[in-house]
Amino acid sequence: MYRTILFVHSLLRWLVLISGAWNLLAGLAGVASKRPYVKADRVAGLAFMITIDVQFLLGLALYVALSPLTTLTIFPHFGAAMKDRVLRFWAVEHVTLMVLALTAAHVGNVLVKRASDPLLKHRRSFLWTLLALILLGAGIPWQILPYGRALFPW
Ligand code: HEM
Repeated sequence: MYRTILFVHSLLRWLVLISGAWNLLAGLAGVASKRPYVKADRVAGLAFMITIDVQFLLGLALYVALSPLTTLTIFPHFGAAMKDRVLRFWAVEHVTLMVLALTAAHVGNVLVKRASDPLLKHRRSFLWTLLALILLGAGIPWQILPYGRALFPW
């Protein structure tokens, strides 16, 4: 169970990033061309919401129940884990940055829905998706980092 969820969590990061990039480019193109906010824009936003929400739930399951890293190594010795660069990343940094990314994505989604002017919708979509992507990029354990993981789960 643990390995399967970790595999999916690792792979799904790419769908989160791809759908986020798609939403970002749709917003940018909308601002540049001043075109109406069309169904394809809504679909891009929805795809980003769905992938990031599922990823969040999988991450939460790993964090609170499935991962031996948190349940066996970090939680029983939280104070000591805070002093270790790698364990601190998994204990707080990854979770915090991803919760902030999820919040930015959702705030953006609500603000886009509330705006009545198409240009304002595109601008909000672009800016909040950009913020979410920066936070996602900062929270991903890229291979070159001390706590890095492989780019693909196989
Ligand atoms: C929503 C965006 C998220 C992205 C893009 C993301 C991405 C990743 C990636 C790439 C890994 C490494 C997987 C591997 O070993 O190949 C990972 C591991 C992990 N993530 Fe996330 N994550 C997200 C959210 C979360 C959240 C919200 C939590 C906790 C509440 C979380 C908890 C974990 C844990 C505990 C691990 C390590 C599990 C282990 O090695 O045993 N993730 N995540």
